[in-house]
Amino acid sequence: MKKTLLVVSTVLSMLFAGFAFSADSPCLADRHVAKGVKCEVCHVAPTPGAVVKVNKEKCLACHQSYEVLAQKTAKLEPNPHFNHMGAVRCTDCHTGHTKGQLMCNDCHKFDLQPK
Ligand code: HEC
Ligand code: HEC
Ligand code: HEC
Ligand code: HEC
Repeated sequence: MKKTLLVVSTVLSMLFAGFAFSADSPCLADRHVAKGVKCEVCHVAPTPGAVVKVNKEKCLACHQSYEVLAQKTAKLEPNPHFNHMGAVRCTDCHTGHTKGQLMCNDCHKFDLQPK
């Protein structure tokens, strides 16, 4: 009995460790899909091979405005959502299916990592 419990808890903790890892690493698009945001919400008509670019209006339909986002990231220096670049495309940094990239670093060297 004790041995079975030990095995069960070991398996569970292994599963949990695996889960914690995968919950951390999926890309932005997959994290949205996991929260119930379907492919179609970002991609107008996701037929294989014909993917529509995601403009910022798509993102802002749920995330409101750059002003609201700027408040959420007010502690970041510099604020990625309030700066001299203005209201650029979200996908310049939040690339969707790949690790995010800070477009600012085309010119600067800021230590910020968009997810
Ligand atoms: C949160 C929004 C979002 C969701 C949800 C999403 N995608 Fe994307 N997808 C993007 C972005 C951003 C890009 C990059 C192109 C761009 O800048 O518009 C992209 C690009 C793609 C591409 C082009 C190849 C590539 O990797 O750049 C394919 C194919 C694709 N998505 C398929 C899907 C499928 C299938 C789903 C559902 C499982 C999905 N996407 C869900 C945002 C999203
Ligand atoms: C249908 C609504 C919807 C759309 C469209 C949408 N999001 Fe989201 N987004 C959400 C929800 C819901 C969350 C989870 C919020 C939370 O956990 O507090 C979220 C979380 C996020 C997060 C932070 C948490 C994480 O998982 O990274 C980022 C960054 C983000 N969205 C960026 C984007 C971008 C960029 C786009 C457009 C390409 C986009 N979202 C489109 C609903 C949406
Ligand atoms: C200059 C790069 C850049 C652009 C452009 C950008 N973001 Fe972000 N965003 C970041 C960084 C960096 C963070 C902090 C790390 C993270 O959570 O990804 C962040 C965080 C977020 C978060 C999480 C905020 C929280 O609650 O902590 C959301 C939601 C988000 N961005 C949505 C958007 C949307 C929607 C757009 C377009 C209107 C956008 N971002 C444009 C870089 C950017
Ligand atoms: C095309 C190049 C370019 C891009 C991309 C760019 N910047 Fe800049 N940025 C500049 C230049 C040029 C200056 C002025 C430099 C100076 O006065 O020394 C500047 C100045 C700044 C300053 C004030 C000076 C400093 O370094 O403290 C901040 C903060 C800043 N940028 C943040 C950002 C952020 C955040 C992004 C991304 C959303 C960004 N920049 C994208 C070129 C760029």
